[in-house]
Amino acid sequence: MSQDALSNLLQENRRFAPPADLAANANTTEDAYARAAEDRLAFWAEQAERLTWAKPWTEVLDWTDPPFAKWFTGGEINIAYNCVDRHVEAGRGDKVAFYWEGEPGDTRTITYADLQKEVCRAANALGELGVVKGDRVAIYMPMIPETAVAMLACARIGATHSVVFGGFSVDALRTRIEDADAKLVITADGGYRRGAPSALKPTVDQAVTKSVKNVLVVRRTGQDVEWTDRDVWWHDLVDRQPEEHRAEPHDSEHPLFILYTSGTTGKPKGILHTTGGYLTQTSFTHHAVFDHKPETDVYWCTADVGWVTGHSYIVYGPLSNGATSVMYEGTPDTPHRGRWWELVEKYGVTILYTAPTAIRTFMKWGDDIPARFDLSSLRVLGSVGEPINPEAYVWYRERIGGGRTPVVDTWWQTETGSIMISPLPGVTHGKPGAAMRPLPGISADVVDDEAKSVPDGSGGFLVLKEPWPSMLRTIWGDDERFVQTYWSRWPGLYFAGDGAKKDDDGDLWLLGRVDDVMLVSGHNISTTEVESALVSHPKVAEAAVVGASDPVTGQAIAAFVIPRDGGEIDVEELRAHVAQHLGPIAKPRQILLVPELPKTRSGKIVRRILQDIAEGRQIGDATTLADPAVMEHIKQALGL
Ligand code: WT7
Repeated sequence: MSQDALSNLLQENRRFAPPADLAANANTTEDAYARAAEDRLAFWAEQAERLTWAKPWTEVLDWTDPPFAKWFTGGEINIAYNCVDRHVEAGRGDKVAFYWEGEPGDTRTITYADLQKEVCRAANALGELGVVKGDRVAIYMPMIPETAVAMLACARIGATHSVVFGGFSVDALRTRIEDADAKLVITADGGYRRGAPSALKPTVDQAVTKSVKNVLVVRRTGQDVEWTDRDVWWHDLVDRQPEEHRAEPHDSEHPLFILYTSGTTGKPKGILHTTGGYLTQTSFTHHAVFDHKPETDVYWCTADVGWVTGHSYIVYGPLSNGATSVMYEGTPDTPHRGRWWELVEKYGVTILYTAPTAIRTFMKWGDDIPARFDLSSLRVLGSVGEPINPEAYVWYRERIGGGRTPVVDTWWQTETGSIMISPLPGVTHGKPGAAMRPLPGISADVVDDEAKSVPDGSGGFLVLKEPWPSMLRTIWGDDERFVQTYWSRWPGLYFAGDGAKKDDDGDLWLLGRVDDVMLVSGHNISTTEVESALVSHPKVAEAAVVGASDPVTGQAIAAFVIPRDGGEIDVEELRAHVAQHLGPIAKPRQILLVPELPKTRSGKIVRRILQDIAEGRQIGDATTLADPAVMEHIKQALGL
């Protein structure tokens, strides 16, 4: 990235100190960094003691065959026992695990005692279907409590689950079932989205391969479904099972789940996570990063369970800590654009964890919507999934958090399993847009092309220098690709694929995927920085930037901008605004005003499509978009 652009971004100098009461009672304090730096493995051993082990480990980390790590070797543990039974045994069976809210407004309150019975019944049901330890189970579900129950039942018996996001198509589901060789698929007739039942079972019917012996179907919407001999209703099978089930201990390295991430090239990678280390780090980070207090907090992570955020911060992390969570089935604008804020008010949510794309959408919808609700229960706000631009950070803090709440910008990946870089809400003086420091026990750095650590005030590539407990163990069935993808660029370093920089204090700013870096007249300019500059203009709601090939400059910056409240924007003024913020080199060649942006179902902007538009090509494959109609609106606005 150009030094001009860098120094300009570092001009962001707003700072937010932790609230005094939060700092005074914080779960994790400054000394944790020093303790972990002194003896990293002792620090993680201490965190593993948060859990109840059936058999103690003999070694914290076995790193004799890098990059294949083994954590807490020799130890045995049951994850479902840790997430459910032990809370009941400790007399907290009446505590609410989930306040579940269906999109149509139906609700269910599930205590830890309820959850224990349901998980045990489901585990017994899996046994009756012949699913045994080591088998793979695909889970293709809406956001309903049975989804968490199904995951925990698999974990309980030692079957490896592969959750496939309920918005994925037949092909995506089939590839994943095939790659994992799944014996069972757990699904539902459908779920509610945007005010209507949306079918899931027909997709499963077309996606099942010959490895699949049964399809277990939850009745959620009551819509008509085709039925074959291999199909079993959840209510027929699970409801009649005994509510006791012995939780057999599993080896610390037993495969817990596979979760597929799509790279830029090739078939999806089945990221494999295992047992003891994964639960240790999800449990610790949920406790530390959100300052979670099980007695008083009501926690809500708005992700879908189909993504890693849902695995680690709806199911495993929070339940291991005995949390009371909100789980919501539907979309934020159904039946109205204040639905989330209505839920925060209704359940008294204290900790909210969501994504920048959602925050920017709410900014676009207007400040008056959250202002209508009582959000005073909130005390910690989290962000994940992409860099949060300073304007969105400040809006989130002010408009949602009432100016009181720390915002924790959490960097991690499907591969890392848990949060790796983040502020601590009772310790860190937050900087809008910065993920700040690696958590205690995590070694991260920013390096140049030769793997040399860059000095403060410069940018480069984010790497992880030491193994961490919840790291991916391999790519399912493809050790070679695991080594190639993550460990081959520089020997001994995990390459995350993200650009980052250190500011003058040595704090970390994430700049997005390195393949999102543009090369303009020989200067590296990150798409994120230009987007951030655009969004800092009061009339801009959201922006996406791509590098379009240019005969003169190599690449030129093309910006797609959504005006706030559908208003008008003077494009020349906006170009000047970017130049003023980042230097003339970052001035976009063209700015196109659009009503919407093409996004995947997980909210990531599909830059490839924007690049097609910017370079005047036929628009390529748009089937991965959350809403294909968006392309029509964009084309119309641009007169294409
Ligand atoms: C990629 C991983 C981790 C759960 C959700 C996404 C980007 C994630 C941040 C953040 C800047 C972020 C990175 C990362 N990312 N969090 N706080 N700041 N970038 O999981 O789909 O595996 O994507 O998301 O580029 O590599 P994922």
